[in-house]
Amino acid sequence: MTSRVAQRPDIRATLHRLFGWLRPAAEPARPACSEALHIRIDQLSRHYRSGRDRVTALTLAGTMSFRSGEVTVIAGRSGSGKSTLLNILGALDSPSGGEFQIDGGCCLSLSSWGKAQVRRNNIAFLFQDGGLIERMSVLDNVLLPLRFCSDRHANAVERARAAIEAVELGGKANRLVHCLSGGERHRVGLARALAREARLLICDEPTAALDATTSELVLRLLRKEAERGACVIVASHDPILLKASHFATRTITFEGGRVQSIEGG
Ligand SMILES: Nc1ncnc2c1ncn2[C@@H]1O[C@H](COP(=O)(O)OP(=O)(O)O)[C@@H](O)[C@H]1O
Ligand SMILES: [Mg+2]
Repeated sequence: MTSRVAQRPDIRATLHRLFGWLRPAAEPARPACSEALHIRIDQLSRHYRSGRDRVTALTLAGTMSFRSGEVTVIAGRSGSGKSTLLNILGALDSPSGGEFQIDGGCCLSLSSWGKAQVRRNNIAFLFQDGGLIERMSVLDNVLLPLRFCSDRHANAVERARAAIEAVELGGKANRLVHCLSGGERHRVGLARALAREARLLICDEPTAALDATTSELVLRLLRKEAERGACVIVASHDPILLKASHFATRTITFEGGRVQSIEGG
């Protein structure tokens, strides 16, 4: 599969989002999946330029920590700054101010290559738009990040198949993604994230537009990831997710880019 990458712009774009541009050079060792993770943010802010205006998407007062074994739900209506925070925590974007540390190391000064390494070594994503490669099979989509992880897994195919089974798509592993329904594609995105067995799992609106049964499956699998030892951070405005008992360790509600309330944890 690796040799095909150079010719496929869609594959390159997806890999760039997950990992940054690929470089064959020696890479820092990936921490073991079981190693505890600690993320700490302090006075984080993010402003955007929109023409001559400055849009403040996020201004967080004080510190906040995210740890292994927890499910943190970031709640709030649309435009409240949830995705902005997830993009920073996922090392996809940089804040305009404040501090952001993973395992005590400052992430603010990292180059885009450094951020890509943080993603590659630690983070699995369930993107709101799926971020799948349409003209590839379910199995190849799930395998893609495993093939390009810094520690190429000898058992990548078994892991990918197990994740596809877990999202109840075992019978469709060889189907092309563009032949699947919206809900099925979403589950492929989840299988791709689960197969990584990453220390940090970031999910943007993981149950939006899903039926109740599929939503329950998604929540169960995300909770299981936290029980495995992952730090799970979920942004959502879905009432089913927000009301689900035994799902969130902590719910942080945003309004206008600020924390309105914190429940649990
Ligand atoms: N690239 C951007 N340029 C300008 N404004 C942006 C950009 N991205 C987000 N925003 C603004 O920041 C605010 C928070 O957006 P977002 O984090 O996507 O909210 P949510 O995920 O809670 O719906 C919104 O007002 C949005 O319009
Ligand atoms: Mg959003």
